[in-house]
Amino acid sequence: MPEASSPRARVLTSLNLKGGVGKTHLCWLLASVCQERQLRCLIVDLDQQANITQSFLPDHVDPTGVEMIFEPGADIDPQVLVRRTAYDHVDVIPVTGHFARYDLSHPEHWEKQRLHAALADALSMLVTEYDYILLDCPPRISLASYAALCASDYVLIPLEAADWGARGTATVRAVIERVQQRDNPQLQLLGYVVSKFKRQRLFQGSYLRQIRDSFGEHVFDTLIPDSAQFERSVDDAIPITLHSPSSHAARIARRLFDECESRIGRAQEEHVGVRRRRRQSGAPAVRPTVARR
Ligand SMILES: Nc1ncnc2c1ncn2[C@@H]1O[C@H](COP(=O)(O)OP(=O)(O)O)[C@@H](O)[C@H]1O
Ligand SMILES: [Mg+2]
Repeated sequence: MPEASSPRARVLTSLNLKGGVGKTHLCWLLASVCQERQLRCLIVDLDQQANITQSFLPDHVDPTGVEMIFEPGADIDPQVLVRRTAYDHVDVIPVTGHFARYDLSHPEHWEKQRLHAALADALSMLVTEYDYILLDCPPRISLASYAALCASDYVLIPLEAADWGARGTATVRAVIERVQQRDNPQLQLLGYVVSKFKRQRLFQGSYLRQIRDSFGEHVFDTLIPDSAQFERSVDDAIPITLHSPSSHAARIARRLFDECESRIGRAQEEHVGVRRRRRQSGAPAVRPTVARR
């Protein structure tokens, strides 16, 4: 009988080309629920704005961070970059000011040296230590976000129910497809999460309907409201499930997490079904190619 493989983290990327749409906040909420449920979570901060780093590591002065993973030719043990936070189930790989130099903007600058595979390689050494690994991306397609997609099982696209809210998502989907075809066939879109939703504003309801019409079942049922409680939790740098455990906001965070898990469950069942059908039809298995250098 084959040996049971050790449990492996689910790796999720939060990505959109727009800033301020709640990419970092999604990671913050999911980590908050991990802490509450005693699930081990690692967040990799890939955005030079360093919001996750500042929230979880307020006294961070360490000169080393995620850029070490991307240094050409670097053969680094990613464990040395992992920082413990005040929350015993949440670790962070921080970003530092040095990352600007490494977060290249053009594929030709990273493809030759296959720098986009570096993050997948590094995380492959950490996946058995965590239940979830969350990758917080900058608001653009660059080496950091491309490498995040190469290293991930799932992508979450947060967006606002507003004019221009869905703009840029076509580019994100095109890049996801490119990564699926060339680098990481395991990658799946987990869904669009409508964030900062202002229920009392009528026009937001009509934008929400447009988003649901365009993206169908890919849109999460859970809406993240624009809420002062969320803002306070970020200001106080205390994850919402600990900051205000019985608040509506904390319940939303748990609902979001549960929906992620049930979508992951469905995605895995589909994946197993596809593999089984492929085996039965005699077609060759599709293997990930990115983490091989
Ligand atoms: N649902 C929400 N309710 C209130 N404030 C929010 C919410 N989501 C995000 N914010 C705040 O909005 C700002 C932008 O969110 P953030 O997650 O940093 O966006 P991004 O990472 O996409 O740039 C932050 O100050 C964050 O605290
Ligand atoms: Mg951010």
